[in-house]
Amino acid sequence: MDLLQLILLSTFLSVSVTSESFHAMEDEALVVKCPQDCQNRTVKWYHTQTNQLIPAEEGGRIHSSGRFLWFLPTSKEDSGNYTCVTHYSNYTKQSTVSVMVYLHKQGICFPSQIRYPNDTGTLTSGRIVCPTIDNYEKATIVKWYKDCKPLQGPREKYSMGGKYLFIKRPQKTDEGHYTCHFTCIHSGNIYNVSATRIFRVKEDVSSPMPSQIQYPTDNAVIQVESGSPVNISCGAFLGIGKQNIAVVTWEVNGIKAEYLNTSRFHEDHQFFMRGDRGYYGESILTIEEVKEEDLLSNFTCTALNEIDHVMVTVTLQLKVPCKGDNHSTYTTIGILVLLSIIALLLILYQFFRIDIVLLCQRIFKPYKTQDDAANALEMRIQKSRRLIIILTPQLIQCEEFGYEHQIALYSALIQNNIKVILLEMETIGNYAGLQESLRYIIKQQGTIKWKEKHKECPHASNSKFWKLVRYHMPLIHKPSQLNHAV
Ligand SMILES: *[C@@H]1O[C@H](CO)[C@@H](O)[C@H](O)[C@H]1NC(C)=O
Ligand SMILES: *[C@@H]1O[C@H](CO)[C@@H](O)[C@H](O)[C@H]1NC(C)=O
Ligand SMILES: *[C@@H]1O[C@H](CO)[C@@H](O)[C@H](O)[C@H]1NC(C)=O
Ligand SMILES: *[C@@H]1O[C@H](CO)[C@@H](O)[C@H](O)[C@H]1NC(C)=O
Ligand SMILES: *[C@@H]1O[C@H](CO)[C@@H](O)[C@H](O)[C@H]1NC(C)=O
Repeated sequence: MDLLQLILLSTFLSVSVTSESFHAMEDEALVVKCPQDCQNRTVKWYHTQTNQLIPAEEGGRIHSSGRFLWFLPTSKEDSGNYTCVTHYSNYTKQSTVSVMVYLHKQGICFPSQIRYPNDTGTLTSGRIVCPTIDNYEKATIVKWYKDCKPLQGPREKYSMGGKYLFIKRPQKTDEGHYTCHFTCIHSGNIYNVSATRIFRVKEDVSSPMPSQIQYPTDNAVIQVESGSPVNISCGAFLGIGKQNIAVVTWEVNGIKAEYLNTSRFHEDHQFFMRGDRGYYGESILTIEEVKEEDLLSNFTCTALNEIDHVMVTVTLQLKVPCKGDNHSTYTTIGILVLLSIIALLLILYQFFRIDIVLLCQRIFKPYKTQDDAANALEMRIQKSRRLIIILTPQLIQCEEFGYEHQIALYSALIQNNIKVILLEMETIGNYAGLQESLRYIIKQQGTIKWKEKHKECPHASNSKFWKLVRYHMPLIHKPSQLNHAV
């Protein structure tokens, strides 16, 4: 019979219409619809590969029912091509459908290829239709999944009705694969079915959206300190793109903050664009000094745009002063540490006072003395008018002069401030051993020589030696003060 059919098929003019593919999960009921318009004529289903007719009797796991081909339920080996044929008087119409059955895997609840068209929502509302559910008898939705996970989110966000899932004010994060899991009854048996489609959110820039207050949350209680200032901020989303009507404002017990007859309250507004042209408004209510009466007041923020207005109310509450207030604790600890350090330093000083003083002296003295010494010496030399040098053999042996001698000689020879008096107490004879500068002075002015005969009466002021000395000394009122030079 089947063979005869085939021969007939090939002799008649055959029109191939379309081909479609169906993807399904294993062990679920699947109904496949012949793509062509059958005009209430008999439709026959065949396995494409084998040309085997699929029976129309109920009861078989795979059976045809008019335009529909049933899998109750699917099995992996059902994957393949199926042909539906409609006979007309002088021709036949046929289509091919390809069926692909997927095995269940952990975390996967829908075939990789989604057959059903995407559902698109706007930022105002979203509605997803459970695909194919109309094809099944006594179908009941058991559960909805998003990306294979049971729907999560606030209860009021989703609502279900018949074959629909409604999403309130969908966001970009609501986009994804939505799977409806339902059961159907066929010949007294219950079958599982799942069908998945993609939901996308269209950001319709032109269509206005309801405003949303982002903060504070309704009925929030704000902690304040009596007598202190406090800022309460209210931020709201007002739509996409600049809005014709955009208001975010505070009311205190139903009276707009700007109309309150107290200068303790100030309100600042600002509006700005953020992200994907989102339009936002913020109002900051400043209370300069929180008073008792503010704790009984209702502070209400209202956000208003073209579509609607929303409001949240907050109240104030006194901060409970806590014992272990961090701030004062840190201050106390800080003071204690400081006092301990000071006490420790005092004890150390008592113990090592002498060592410390000596150490300081050792460190600072050299510089100090050098400074004092050198300066005082120089000043005294500056003040002197005569430099008396006593020439002795020891002086000749001495390799170099003392510091003060050097300065005095420098003063005498270079600056010409001091007159030099050279006293030769013992006969030195040859001056070759003397310093160059001394020899120069001797050559210039000679020396005053102590003669043996002076010894007889050394203190006699009228001796020739002393007369010469007095002669070379400057004129002074008290001639006894000779000790000017170093
Ligand atoms: C089903 O038909 C398509 C073409 O429509 C073909 O590519 C594919 O190989 C067929 N599958 C089987 C299992 O024969
Ligand atoms: C089949 O026959 C009808 C008339 O009975 C005619 O209108 C139609 O064009 C024919 N179709 C083909 C494909 O020959
Ligand atoms: C459906 O959405 C997916 C993911 O966003 C996209 O890749 C695909 O092109 C969409 N299909 C149609 C028909 O728009
Ligand atoms: C249908 O699915 C549920 C949950 O996934 C499962 O517990 C039940 O056994 C399934 N029923 C059949 C007939 O496969
Ligand atoms: C604040 O709001 C609450 C609840 O709506 C109300 O009972 C109370 O009377 C309000 N207080 C004032 C001062 O309006």
